Amino acid sequence: MSYKDQIDLQKLPRHIAVIMDGNGRWAKGKGKLRIFGHHNGVLSVRDVVEGAGDLGIEYLTLYTFSAENWNRPTFEVNAIMELLISTINKEIAKLMKNNVRLNAIGDLNQLPAKCHKELSNAIEKTSVNTGLVLTLALSYSSRQEIMQAAINLAAKVQNGELQPGDIDEKMFEDNLYTAGMPNPELLIRTSGEYRISNYLLWQIAYAELYFTSKLWPDFRREDLYEAILDYQKRERRFGMISEQVN
Ligand code: IPE
Ligand code: IPE
Ligand code: MG
Repeated sequence: MSYKDQIDLQKLPRHIAVIMDGNGRWAKGKGKLRIFGHHNGVLSVRDVVEGAGDLGIEYLTLYTFSAENWNRPTFEVNAIMELLISTINKEIAKLMKNNVRLNAIGDLNQLPAKCHKELSNAIEKTSVNTGLVLTLALSYSSRQEIMQAAINLAAKVQNGELQPGDIDEKMFEDNLYTAGMPNPELLIRTSGEYRISNYLLWQIAYAELYFTSKLWPDFRREDLYEAILDYQKRERRFGMISEQVN
């Protein structure tokens, strides 16, 4: 039986977050430039987005470019930005066909104007879609996101709109980039690294973590399904004991 056939559709995670890592090593292993890996990573994105949509996943959030990634060599940063621009544009038709709604989180104003424009255009065009919500984390830093939420709330307290005691988790979440989205139940990281790299720190408080040694350009929908199956075998206790959650 394929992984997909074994998945319990009644117990799907609503939101899956992915740290797409290992493009550079994948290319290097083939004697190519790192950017060759980024180009091939796009094929994985396409397949995983389709696979998630097919299954009925509601939210897929892909770590595409971190705030820290700006510190890479200029050549690589520029090449990734160019790749983003051309890919977003090329994929719109497919997103429309697959009923995918595009979304983005992060400090989007840092993106080159052309990239920001293509992104806004695709977000606008796909906003009528009702299927999978595909969120790209771009120029994203979770600490910045949390700090910005604190700043927003502090400003409201200062101008008298809010009392400090009124602030609760729900209000805090409403001030994150991910406002309105459920928290990810499953976080996948490829490439064999066991770290979070400043991704969705607040949102993954109770996420199940799944690490695979596969490099991102080798990751396909079957790998996503394997991760979901693994997730479904786990007991999520949220601080309680086994007897309480069964
Ligand atoms: C992930 O692959 C893509 C981005 C961070 C943009 P990497 O480029 O980090 O590839 P490795 O981890 O160096 O192999
Ligand atoms: C995390 O990968 C960011 C993305 C996948 C976009 P990195 O390759 O930048 O993370 P570190 O540097 O290994 O922690
Ligand atoms: Mg990496």
